[in-house]
Amino acid sequence: MQKRALLYEGKAKRLFLTDDENLVISEFKDDLTAFNGEKKSSEAGKGALNNKISTELFKLLEANGIPTHFVEMLDDNHMLHTKVDVILIEVIVRNIATGSLSKNLGIEDGKVLPFTLVEFDYKDDDLGDPKLNDQHALILELVEHQDELDKLRRMARQVNDILKPYFAKKGLNLVDFKLEFGKDRNNNIILIDEISPDNCRFWDMETGEKMDKDRFRQGLGGLKVAYEKVLERILEK
Ligand SMILES: Nc1ncnc2c1ncn2[C@@H]1O[C@H](COP(=O)(O)OP(=O)(O)O)[C@@H](O)[C@H]1O
Ligand SMILES: [Mg+2]
Repeated sequence: MQKRALLYEGKAKRLFLTDDENLVISEFKDDLTAFNGEKKSSEAGKGALNNKISTELFKLLEANGIPTHFVEMLDDNHMLHTKVDVILIEVIVRNIATGSLSKNLGIEDGKVLPFTLVEFDYKDDDLGDPKLNDQHALILELVEHQDELDKLRRMARQVNDILKPYFAKKGLNLVDFKLEFGKDRNNNIILIDEISPDNCRFWDMETGEKMDKDRFRQGLGGLKVAYEKVLERILEK
């Protein structure tokens, strides 16, 4: 499958049309951004690591009954996937408090939450991805019905129920993550985008070491090594 016209250039990926109107190709870039694009950098090899990690995790989720946009990994930096209409809601799943949740609500960093929290942010960089409640999402017509919001939450919890024990077996705490969803040509809601250390937080269960994009956000260094270790643990049987 060949890349055709550039459809969209985002912060971490470029999206290309293909000869098949239902398929698009993502090119995973080495660029890193944080704090809504205020902090920028690049790390050679980061894009390929995210492509490989996402590929493995989409395969795992598909095998466990979650519909995703994944078709195949084409090469180090390219993934072929189903084209969707993106739902402009970032679905955030949190098992442990950190980041903006700790900051905004004063919850101690590292506190294990009494239950898994699912939140919605409006995917809009100009507005700084503000928090949404269900009424906001319906007023903005980000989905058609309340049922669809319920479905996003249900699917996000299912993903957590698969990924959390999977990573625990590999010695990683799945602290939180961000998911995106879209509607395919049959109007089915499917999981899209990427699942990688750019949008998941992983903490080593033994050392507490951060193995995700917080290394960049917090200027800790060693980002690529951390992503490589995440991929290694995924590939370990
Ligand atoms: N299957 C898909 N079909 C159409 N658009 C998609 C699909 N998967 C992801 N996208 C969108 O493509 C873009 C991916 O590029 P990215 O660099 O992550 O963008 P952003 O800067 O918006 O986060 C995102 O806007 C994402 O919503
Ligand atoms: Mg993105």
